Amino acid sequence: MAVIKVQQVNKTYEQKGEVVQALTDINLTIEKGDIYGIIGLSGAGKSTLVRCLNYLEKPTTGQVLVDGVDLGSLSKKELRQKRKEIAMIFQHFHLLMQKNVLENVCFPLYLSGMKKEKARERARELLDMVGLLSKATSYPAQLSGGQKQRVAIARALACNPKILLCDEATSALDPQTTASILELLQGIHDRLGLTVVVITHQMSVVETICNKVAIVSEGRIVEDGMVDAIFSHPKSKEARELLQETHTKGISPKEECSIGA
Ligand SMILES: Nc1ncnc2c1ncn2[C@@H]1O[C@H](COP(=O)(O)OP(=O)(O)OP(=O)(O)O)[C@@H](O)[C@H]1O
Ligand SMILES: [Mg+2]
Repeated sequence: MAVIKVQQVNKTYEQKGEVVQALTDINLTIEKGDIYGIIGLSGAGKSTLVRCLNYLEKPTTGQVLVDGVDLGSLSKKELRQKRKEIAMIFQHFHLLMQKNVLENVCFPLYLSGMKKEKARERARELLDMVGLLSKATSYPAQLSGGQKQRVAIARALACNPKILLCDEATSALDPQTTASILELLQGIHDRLGLTVVVITHQMSVVETICNKVAIVSEGRIVEDGMVDAIFSHPKSKEARELLQETHTKGISPKEECSIGA
């Protein structure tokens, strides 16, 4: 079943009187339980595309359907409600620096109206799931990058989303920490039956965790399909280049993610 369906999406921005065509004719189907990679070089349009999936950006034309519901047809209130099903994590974590780890995870629960004690109990469960219960009273500044991302993941899962969008979630991390965060995401996906969308510029991330991938170049999807098929028989120039880049580092993609692990 398609959890996310993107139909003929175009997105343009106007900047200083000039039109920037960020996305062109995007069609994408993401099925329940996929770990779907969206890969491309800087400026390709990956963040724009992922932000269209939860309507943080409204497509200029075209539709985004989540569980068959056209996000463009919803009122502001309905969209806020729908967005609870779609969580997101980012490269730079976006934690509340003045709040401790526990309160960071409680935050979305308070916003959804949960009482303090219940929220704290749920936040402790989530911190336990990401292996960070011992840091509940620490502040973000006292954590490593990998630990901050674990807090962000716990917070993202607080309201039981169906979909987790990850925009370069491991790009600020070293290879060993990247491997541990990918392992955590895989485990959460398996355990909770989430659909995960992974935005990245690293083929190694796609190979480690994704079952399907779309390659984005200059705002267009140039190739998409099963990861195994694209890795063994890349059709597009862009796919071949991205694979080449990974392999010319002299180490296999899987090793790249697990060095020192
Ligand atoms: N708010 C905006 N206003 C104007 N142009 C924008 C805006 N957001 C993105 N763009 C443009 O759209 C294009 C795609 O940007 P986007 O951020 O989606 O790329 P990306 O693939 O996520 O890049 P990166 O890997 O560097 O994060 C770029 O040309 C960018 O300059
Ligand atoms: Mg981006």
